[in-house]
Amino acid sequence: MPGSLNNLRIDADVSRAWTLPADLYFDADVYAAEKDAIFCRSWQVIGRHDQVRNPGDYFTTELSGEPLLVVHGADRTLRAFYNVCRHRAGPPAEGCGSRKLFRCGYHGWTYDLDGSLISATEIDGVKGFREREFALVPVRVEEWFNFVFVNLDPDARRLAQGLKELSPQAQKFPIAGMKLFERRTYEMNCNWKTYVDNYLEGYHLPSVHPGLNRELDYNAYTVEPHEHYVRQFSPIRRAQRGDATPRRYREAREDLTTDYFWIFPNWMLNCYPDNISLNIVLPISSERSLAIFEWYLPEKEHCSPAAKASVEFSHQIQSEDVAICEIVQKNLHSQSYSRGRFSVKQEKGVHAFHRMYAEAMKSSSRRRSPNAGRK
Ligand code: FES
Ligand SMILES: [Fe+2]
Repeated sequence: MPGSLNNLRIDADVSRAWTLPADLYFDADVYAAEKDAIFCRSWQVIGRHDQVRNPGDYFTTELSGEPLLVVHGADRTLRAFYNVCRHRAGPPAEGCGSRKLFRCGYHGWTYDLDGSLISATEIDGVKGFREREFALVPVRVEEWFNFVFVNLDPDARRLAQGLKELSPQAQKFPIAGMKLFERRTYEMNCNWKTYVDNYLEGYHLPSVHPGLNRELDYNAYTVEPHEHYVRQFSPIRRAQRGDATPRRYREAREDLTTDYFWIFPNWMLNCYPDNISLNIVLPISSERSLAIFEWYLPEKEHCSPAAKASVEFSHQIQSEDVAICEIVQKNLHSQSYSRGRFSVKQEKGVHAFHRMYAEAMKSSSRRRSPNAGRK
């Protein structure tokens, strides 16, 4: 483990603090430690309510290398399980669809929608075998607006406890009434934290996103760190008579804002007056990540040219972000660079992330060595 992780400390005062050391953005051991300390312990968005709307509906997915199964039970309860058969680790379910029960694709053991083992084929004669002890292993699952979340930590606190004021803040945007319009994925040659850092400040808007900068009031761009998430918001700038380039929000009113929510560690909601996009960044390796974008709009807007334009507008911003993140990732290896300082005015969000990150990594190493600190 690099020493910079063992002694990691980010000063609570942003004006005194230094950023995370550069090696944390490319060290393979750090990446492995993050999986255990962060990704297996935090709430992760893995799907949408409409994928499991009716009893029997299910989908399978993977999170941090763990195969998972989410199913709407006959009793109308949403459940999640490790999609791993209790016999010899075959797949109880594959793909998505609707089922009355699950039959493992290896030797045919069957499981109820509530995970209990219904029958183990040809198991007669096995001593001490009790079917009730071989149910699928459950995973914590919760819903928030349209989204389905899981947490691989059985002792994690409830999702809502981490979101707190986010729900009322996001309610201003009609998330629940919107339907998935388009999904795109972007493979990026950067560490997931490089991408999150970039997301958490508007400091780069004038240089990296001139198009977006025209729509927003840069001087009023506000960063509001909370305990487990960061909100950034900006009023939409009124169209000016002399604007050289046509503006997307011609009708912009001062009460319209764009709100960008990032929730520790890796999911984001970009809320615009006419669309919302969900953005998830998943680590693939220490220097590669996958950004998933899902655009949500009211269903009646799905055929409008404006819907396509919203996606292309976000796509442009995303492409600009990927380009700068990939350059930064490469430069983090330079022997000239070890760590940096924060702009007090612009980088409170990045600072908050680095504090949350340091705390999560520290708590995990405390859990790993329960005697640490004892004489
Ligand atoms: S592994 Fe599932 S029935 Fe054998
Ligand atoms: Fe950006």
